[in-house]
Amino acid sequence: MKILICYFSGTGNTKKVVDCFAETFKTEYNEDVTVARMEDSFTQDINDYDLIGIGYPVHAFNAPSIVLDFCKNLPVAKKEIRAFIVNTSGEPLKLNNISSLRTTKLLKQRNLRVTNEYHYCMPYNMIFRHTDAMAYRMWSTAQLLIPLDVKEIEQGQEHYLDPVFMGDFIAWIMRCEHWGGRLNGTQYKVDDKCVHCNKCVNICPTHNITVENGKFKFGNNCIMCMRCAHLCGRDAIKTGWFNSWKVNGPYSFEKPTEEEKQRYNKMLTAAYEKYFEECDMRIATNYPTVIVREAAATTSFGYDVAAETEEEKTMVKI
Ligand SMILES: Cc1cc2nc3c(=O)[nH]c(=O)nc-3n(C[C@H](O)[C@H](O)[C@H](O)COP(=O)(O)O)c2cc1C
Ligand code: SF4
Ligand code: SF4
Repeated sequence: MKILICYFSGTGNTKKVVDCFAETFKTEYNEDVTVARMEDSFTQDINDYDLIGIGYPVHAFNAPSIVLDFCKNLPVAKKEIRAFIVNTSGEPLKLNNISSLRTTKLLKQRNLRVTNEYHYCMPYNMIFRHTDAMAYRMWSTAQLLIPLDVKEIEQGQEHYLDPVFMGDFIAWIMRCEHWGGRLNGTQYKVDDKCVHCNKCVNICPTHNITVENGKFKFGNNCIMCMRCAHLCGRDAIKTGWFNSWKVNGPYSFEKPTEEEKQRYNKMLTAAYEKYFEECDMRIATNYPTVIVREAAATTSFGYDVAAETEEEKTMVKI
């Protein structure tokens, strides 16, 4: 099967998830997979593919505007093509489920039928910073769920997220974030910690940052992806009215130390616990050996994705 996965990722979370999907399709099912960033020029012909994946982070319970524009610009496929949607979000709120409603409709108009939707909790890149321990748990959980979700797609088993009452209407209202982001983007400033490395200028997906005579100019094309502010090594970018919500610096995603685990425990909230509990149940059913090993080592704390014994290797390879 020829698979095309198109994605947008502001700060790398969705990229990690999409890459894991692509790798699983390739290594477990020997599929021919192409991965394309939505911000790059799109040269693929969708008619060449049997399955199309669309990946993006949830922004204000919606897809970012760059994703909706990408879907609008897709040609109408000559024959119906199956599609799947992959989302990441900072919180396991059910309201995030409405983020794929508009995307699904736009894809349907292009003869792409969404049969599978998946949602993974990944660390916040705005609002507040998760601990690296929490980031590790989210990512290690996603890495174990993805092979199960790929298997569903491969077996033709459809999977949809639970509907939300008045979801379409709420999503429509919340899309005010798209023009709000543009407006807020014009308020971005660079302070004197800047070392003029030009990284932010080069990585902005909408080319919204320019420098004239050493002065930074932020245009009105910001999509609030947070890439510039998150990845600036000097934390020199002030993100307008939402500056107090800025999360600067990448997450490590490495296995946490005992001390970091304690910090993680203080961060627990009912919503995250419920999310992990549900994921753990699914993982326990499919990877019993991994569960046994980790449960012996620690209570309620993520998994080692890398199998160590031969038996574990067969468990992980589902
Ligand atoms: C402008 C903006 C809006 C966001 N809105 C939501 C939201 O509505 N719900 C949520 O759970 N997370 C929200 N997030 C968090 C991101 O969805 C989350 O951190 C995601 O994994 C980032 O992925 P990326 O690194 O691929 O950009 C938002 C982040 C940004 C920057
Ligand atoms: S990434 Fe940061 S330090 Fe580099 S030019 Fe931009 S604001 Fe300045
Ligand atoms: S200015 Fe920053 S937040 Fe806005 S689109 Fe560019 S990289 Fe993203």
